[in-house]
Amino acid sequence: MSADTQVIKKGILLAGGSGSRLYPLTQVTNKHLLPIFNKPMIYYPLTALMLGGVREILIISSPHDIGKFKALFGDGSDWGMGFSYAEQAAPEGLAQAFIIGEKFIDGDSVCLNLGDHILIGDGLPERIQKATRRKGGASIFGHHTSMPERSGIVVLDKQGCAVDLEEKPQKPKSNIAVTGLYFYDANVVEIAKGLKPSLRGELEITDINKAYMERGDLNVDLLGRGYAWFDGGTPETMSAASQYVELIETVQGIRIACPEEVALRMGFIDETQFGKLIDKAGGSPYGAYLSSVLDDM
Ligand code: DAU
Repeated sequence: MSADTQVIKKGILLAGGSGSRLYPLTQVTNKHLLPIFNKPMIYYPLTALMLGGVREILIISSPHDIGKFKALFGDGSDWGMGFSYAEQAAPEGLAQAFIIGEKFIDGDSVCLNLGDHILIGDGLPERIQKATRRKGGASIFGHHTSMPERSGIVVLDKQGCAVDLEEKPQKPKSNIAVTGLYFYDANVVEIAKGLKPSLRGELEITDINKAYMERGDLNVDLLGRGYAWFDGGTPETMSAASQYVELIETVQGIRIACPEEVALRMGFIDETQFGKLIDKAGGSPYGAYLSSVLDDM
C-alpha cells in the first residue's frame, strides 16, 4: 500500500484498566502483557494496526503500568515504528482515549485498537488498509456473535447501513457485535469531549459511533465466516484465543502477530535491521522462527 493514499497514519492502543476479571493473574502483571499462546496479548492488536500501515502509535495505560509498556516497546525504532505513551488516571471509558490523545492526534484522523482485542482472518490486513484509506467519517468492523449482550452491537438495514447501536443491551436487537478496532476522522476529539458519562460512569465508544451514525458517516465492514474474534478479558477467552493461535500456528507452521515479521513484510525495516532482531531473540524458538522468515524471503 502506498503511504500517499493512506489517510489514517496514527493509532492508539488502549491498555489500561485493572483486569479484575483475570485476578490474581493481574495482581502484578498488566492484562495486556499476559500471554496469548506464545506472545504478549498486546502484540495482536499492535500488529493489526501495523498491517494497516499505521506506524505512529500512542499506548495508553494506567500510571502504575505505563512503565512496563515503555520497557517492552521503547520508542519503536527497532521495528521502524514510533511509539509514544500516555497515562489514563482511571478507567473512565474507551472514548477518553481521544481526549487523552488529543496532542498526539493533533488534528489528524486516527484509529483505536483495544489492547485485549484479537482479530484473526485471511484478508484482514487489506480490510484494515481499506479503512485507513477512507477519507472522512468513521469505520468499524461488525462480527457475528452468539453473545450480543456482552458487546456493543450494531443493527444494519438491508443495504448494510447502520441504523442503531447499543452498548451491552439486555435485549439485543441484533447479533452483530462491534469489534474493538475503530477508525475516525479528526472530529472524534471534539465528539469525545462532548460526551457525558453513561449510567456505568464511562465515556462510551458506542456514543462516538452513534454520533457518526447520526451524521450518516459511519461505515460498517461486516466480517463473514472464518474470522476469529476474541477479547482476552477473561480466563476462558484468553484460553480460547491461545488454543486457536496454537492450532493455526502448528498446522501452518507460520506465526500470527509477530511484530518483527510484520515490520519486515510491510517494509518498515530492512533485512539488516531484521537480522539484529533475530540476534536479540537469541537462541529462542521465536528467534528460530524469525530466521526461517528471512530464509523464505
Ligand atoms: O471488544 C469489543 C467491545 O469492546 C465493544 O463491542 C464494546 O462496544 C466496547 O465497549 C468494549 O467492550 P468491553 O467490555 O470489551 O470493554 P472493556 O471495558 O473490557 O475494555 C476494553 C479494553 O480497554 C480492555 O483491554 C481494558 C481497556 N480499557 C478499558 C476502559 C473502560 C482502558 O484501557 N481504559 C478504560 O477506561
